[in-house]
Amino acid sequence: MVSELKLSFSKVEKIADGIAVIFTNIDLAVSPETEAALPGIGSLVKRAASADNFKGKALTSLDILAPLGLTVDRVIVVSLGKAEDGARTDWVKAGGNVVGKLPASAKSATVVLDLPDAAITADQVADFTLGARLRAYKFERYKTRKQDDAANKVLELTIASSVDGAAKKAGKSREAIADGVRLARDLVNEPPNVLYPEAFAKRAAELEELGVEIEILDVKAMKKLGMGALLGVGQGSEHDSRLVVMRWNGAKNREAKPVAFIGKGVTFDTGGISIKPASGMEDMKGDMGGAACVVGLMHALAARKAKANVIGAIGVVENMPDGNAQRPGDIVTSMSGQTIEIINTDAEGRLVLADVLWYIQDKYKPQFMIDLATLTGAIMVALGQEYAGLFSNNDELAGRLFVAGQTTGERVWRMPLGPEYDKLIDSKFADMKNTGGRNGGSITAAQFLQRFVNETPWAHLDIAGTAMGSPASDVNRSWGSGWGVRLLDRLVAEHYEG
Ligand code: BES
Ligand code: MN
Ligand code: ZN
Repeated sequence: MVSELKLSFSKVEKIADGIAVIFTNIDLAVSPETEAALPGIGSLVKRAASADNFKGKALTSLDILAPLGLTVDRVIVVSLGKAEDGARTDWVKAGGNVVGKLPASAKSATVVLDLPDAAITADQVADFTLGARLRAYKFERYKTRKQDDAANKVLELTIASSVDGAAKKAGKSREAIADGVRLARDLVNEPPNVLYPEAFAKRAAELEELGVEIEILDVKAMKKLGMGALLGVGQGSEHDSRLVVMRWNGAKNREAKPVAFIGKGVTFDTGGISIKPASGMEDMKGDMGGAACVVGLMHALAARKAKANVIGAIGVVENMPDGNAQRPGDIVTSMSGQTIEIINTDAEGRLVLADVLWYIQDKYKPQFMIDLATLTGAIMVALGQEYAGLFSNNDELAGRLFVAGQTTGERVWRMPLGPEYDKLIDSKFADMKNTGGRNGGSITAAQFLQRFVNETPWAHLDIAGTAMGSPASDVNRSWGSGWGVRLLDRLVAEHYEG
């Protein structure tokens, strides 16, 4: 696998050398343009298919080495299967799939994006490049020894199609999105000694180069605002907490109310005094997956100059046990004025989000706000790692998120909220407590958040199962998945650009 992809677009021309990737269908036919690029390939595909018992199921491939009568070294024939197969609608997946089929040693390849039985659009070609870019991602910053001598570092991929000019243009916005996802993945993959709250805030502040306005609140500023819930979580750490607000004002009406995205950024979650077991604790470096998504999303939106007014806000803290750490039994006062009894210091994400949600709805009066958080292990018990949990006080917003999830493949499944669940977090000593018992753990966590959103249309995405360690897919082989960037980019695009 490669770590850097150099993409270029061209017309379909005769291919003289290297690796060629072409497409076929269930009938094993190739298009006339493909035949012109590789004269004789049509009959070679038929022969090779029968020699290899290749049936042309969607996204399976046939490898033809040193093809007779051609000067290319190798032709990889990818089938899109039957017309009704998903391979023709999900070109992001196809792009990832194709890059995965290239040999590790490949330095260059030409993909002929031309189909035997349909015309390809510029958007489809652009989607293909998005998938290719996502699949090519690798996080190797901390590997000092080469893993695989045969593996090539840079892959030059030429995308040949009849819509090359338009595809190049459409590909620009996909590059912005891919870069946003890759940034989110980087942040999740970084070790917690490197990416502590202040360092995370610095990384977010780099978005200034793209025209994003940055405001960073330090501990003093947050104290002044009364953010006792967020600050309580960070008080056991040597690293000071931060709240970063990123603002992209790209809509025609720059004064129009923004939409807001809020991320949980616990750079490491030991559990605090309610400490977690040792086994697997290293994964808690990824407890900032929500914040990483928000930063990646802001990158994508700014890089593609989205016509949208968007606020991104992340609460960045480290949850550590220490002489100064918060205790079970402590009562903290949130910025909203509501008091919280700490039952379990490991239920820290909701405390961080409580103050950020309140601050954002109060200060910016957003049209809607969506938070993302690796909030509960319980959401994995409920949904596994395929869907993120969706909680919302607004059916329309929930519906739009569901649709965006189906189209991008970053899928969400709605979970219930209600007064019966809400009362489970009433406290004997304070306005509420920070845990609601074993049952419905991700629901009581969401109920807790809802107490800080007022009337703002709001959705909460519990991404504990999807942000990290997700099953390998065509578009992702990284531990940190960058989940949510594509989903929310799509939601913003639909909201502003229809
Ligand atoms: N960060 C964890 C949730 C988590 C667990 C994310 C596994 C990703 C993988 C969160 O802060 C947490 O510890 N939640 C507790 C809540 C409990 C104490 C009420 C949990 O889920 O066990
Ligand atoms: Mn925790
Ligand atoms: Zn956590």
